[in-house]
Amino acid sequence: CGIIGYTGYTDARGKLIKGLKTLEYRGYDSAGIAVFNDTLNEVIVAKCEGRVERLDEKSKDIKGNTGIGHTRWATHGGVSDSNSHPHKFGNVTLVHNGIIENYASIKNQLGIAGKLKSQTDSEVVAALIDNYYHIGSDPSEAIIKAVREIKGTFALGIMFDDIPNVIYAVRNVSPIVCCVNDDGAYIASDITAIGEYSKEYFVLPELTIAEISKNGIEVRDFQDNKVDVKMLELDWDINNSSKKHYPFYMEKEISEQPEVIEKTIRSRIKDGLPDFSADGVDDSIFTECENITVIACGTAMHAGLIGKHLIEKACAVPVNVYMASEYMYCDPIVSDKTLVICVSQSGETIDTLEALKYAKSKGAKTLSIVNVKGSSIAMTSDNVIYTNAGPEIAVASTKAYTTQVAVFYLITAKTALLRGCFNEDETKSFVNELEKIPQAVDDILQRKDEIHHLSQSLLTAEHTFMIGRGLDYPALLEASLKLKEISYIHSEAFASGELKHGTIALIIKKTPVIALLTQEKLMSKQISNIREVESRGATVISFVKDGLQTKDINPDFILPNLNDDFMAIPAVVAMQLLAYYVSADKGLDVDKPRNLAKVVTVE
Ligand code: G6P
Repeated sequence: CGIIGYTGYTDARGKLIKGLKTLEYRGYDSAGIAVFNDTLNEVIVAKCEGRVERLDEKSKDIKGNTGIGHTRWATHGGVSDSNSHPHKFGNVTLVHNGIIENYASIKNQLGIAGKLKSQTDSEVVAALIDNYYHIGSDPSEAIIKAVREIKGTFALGIMFDDIPNVIYAVRNVSPIVCCVNDDGAYIASDITAIGEYSKEYFVLPELTIAEISKNGIEVRDFQDNKVDVKMLELDWDINNSSKKHYPFYMEKEISEQPEVIEKTIRSRIKDGLPDFSADGVDDSIFTECENITVIACGTAMHAGLIGKHLIEKACAVPVNVYMASEYMYCDPIVSDKTLVICVSQSGETIDTLEALKYAKSKGAKTLSIVNVKGSSIAMTSDNVIYTNAGPEIAVASTKAYTTQVAVFYLITAKTALLRGCFNEDETKSFVNELEKIPQAVDDILQRKDEIHHLSQSLLTAEHTFMIGRGLDYPALLEASLKLKEISYIHSEAFASGELKHGTIALIIKKTPVIALLTQEKLMSKQISNIREVESRGATVISFVKDGLQTKDINPDFILPNLNDDFMAIPAVVAMQLLAYYVSADKGLDVDKPRNLAKVVTVE
């Protein structure tokens, strides 16, 4: 979910709606705002199921200079008007991001079951704060008492009917960023929603309480001591969060990849060698570890799988890749000789964050590859390498993935050099090949019409399979996720040799099979696997690295020629375009696929 708040000298509604539109990628089941009305002397709520655009229409009459807003990804309670935020109970109106695990027992304890208007855990928190406020606590005290009682993750924006033009904010795990300018003060789940108002912002420290008024933001801890916050500088061009002439953010973000990959690697190459000194990353983390564990979710986890191939091959260090949601629960082998690398675009995915905290508690050294500055994962990790992808708005991740993979190439080169697996010349030639990637990606973008043409054969497909070997297999896991999430076509990626062990039973006449061939040493085996599916009637669409086409394989799309180890990025970019065109041509909402959210702050 996304939350926003503003209080100041100008109209709040417009700012809240604008912010919510930016935050919509965090959830778009429903949206709502609450604004303090000076004439009526109370907080007025407008909320509805559906997109922010609908809320905009429904809330035109709302006036006032102080308000909070919310865009929801449903967890507790179905998608409906009444379950939308903000929730008002008695004097208290709030928006919530996160999950309150003990809401049912609090509900019983307060005896409020009959008084609630929704099925959400969030409304119960409003009731709890109201309860303490009612029996004599001041607003901050009431919030602190409530927060001490609730279990779970939360970011809360809170208003009181009888405290005009003040917002309170408090958080545990789920993020809140804050900024001020001459017009007033702002809070939001992430900086993209309020970055246009100030380049300077801060992340609200956990378990502190912020009092937001038009005069500024005061942060205190739960013992009522003033807290000094750490100011951060926004180095994104916030205009970059507009769609420009592109019909969808996803197409814009795909097309930005040559530039952002270049940006991510350029500042980290000195005299042809990888260099993380500007990131403050200590070389010893790469030399002292006996094993590496990569932890991430979704697309970021797929970037980690590419990293595993690269690091194991070049550095002979064992690398395990874990889905963050599974990590803590499978008794992982972790010690002070483990380097844990967390990968996350948002830096807020709670499963990754919790796994990172767990690994730290076991003594692991930690490094995160993160896109959002100052995010929870970045702040929790001992070392951070920021990807320079800029704001990624489309729910389906593209440029964040390719920049994450680019960082893995640099980590591979650095580790191989430091551990004596590469000499300086070998490292330079590895880095030199990495530097060719932006051009190779650009080459694919220039030929996107060819991919558009190929995509037409998938428009009516219900199932597809993607097959590849070696490095092509993890690349296809990402390709397959892209296709599934935005086109709703069932797709499975298989290591080609594994397909015959059961799943080949699903191949029938005209089943589309996408085959990726970029690994020279695996060509003949991969071609045999292609024959196996063709002989069961599959229609094969092949993506082949230039130079590997033979009389046995007639490519449908020729990928640029880089060293085999560097083909993962160009191959995935081609597949991103394939998925994009299928989704767009099916008339789907490419940027906001059903049931998804871009930033998942619930376990
Ligand atoms: C969500 C998004 C995915 C993303 C995953 C991990 O599920 O829809 O696109 O890969 O979270 O997000 P992160 O921000 O940690 O990379």
